[in-house]
Amino acid sequence: MAEVVVVEDQDAAGELAARSIVQLIRSTPDAVLGLATGSTPLPLYRALAATVASDGVDVSRVRGFALDEYVGLPAGHPESYRSVITREVVEPLGLDPQRIHVPNGSLEGIEHAGADYERAIVAAGGVDVQILGIGTDGHLGFNEPGSSFASLTRVKTLTEQTRRDNARFFASESDVPVHCITQGLGTILRARHLILLAFGAGKADAVAGAVEGPVSASNPGSAIQLHPHATVLVDGAAAANLRNLDYYRYAWLNKPSWQGI
Ligand code: PGA
Repeated sequence: MAEVVVVEDQDAAGELAARSIVQLIRSTPDAVLGLATGSTPLPLYRALAATVASDGVDVSRVRGFALDEYVGLPAGHPESYRSVITREVVEPLGLDPQRIHVPNGSLEGIEHAGADYERAIVAAGGVDVQILGIGTDGHLGFNEPGSSFASLTRVKTLTEQTRRDNARFFASESDVPVHCITQGLGTILRARHLILLAFGAGKADAVAGAVEGPVSASNPGSAIQLHPHATVLVDGAAAANLRNLDYYRYAWLNKPSWQGI
């Protein structure tokens, strides 16, 4: 079962996750981070940047792989995930941009971009910790409902719901690309630790489905139930529909502190 930790707010979740990632970087200076975009991981990236600066953590060898990218946006588009990862993660943390990979969403070579990305992840020795958000429709990365649990990085069609959800980042909904390239659920499940973050009432159904719902390709988030080390950090609103909430709180309160998350 995934470990569910209910925290006070987004900043508390960010700090908890950042502590765990800093510990990883201290023990493995060339750690491989799996980087999610969207609004959800921003408090984590802020906390990580603050800790790296205040504690003088050496991140010069840290490597990273983004989860996904839009297909067909012009290079340098501010909402391309390459730009977002550069702005929100690489620059604030002071990572080496050469070590940060994002799936190649340009139309040229798109037919082999997924296989290329998988090879690069394998060559790096796999992802140590994968940061995840979850869509209101339960998607992880851009693996929309119906995605195979064995899927690897490939081109997918976004649902209309996801295009509506992401329209806030673009001038209009019609500017949101129709296609994306995303790590598969199979790729995500190979990461050694998953940290899924979710905040707000709008995510309550997706969180309950992922943690306690039937394991089904119709609900991509439920893939985390197949992972041996998955941590779900949620605020009270996002946790509201969990049936076993009392147990998760009890288990966290009684967790030996040396275990971390
Ligand atoms: P959000 O998106 O963090 O912007 O809510 C999450 C997702 O779509 O995976």
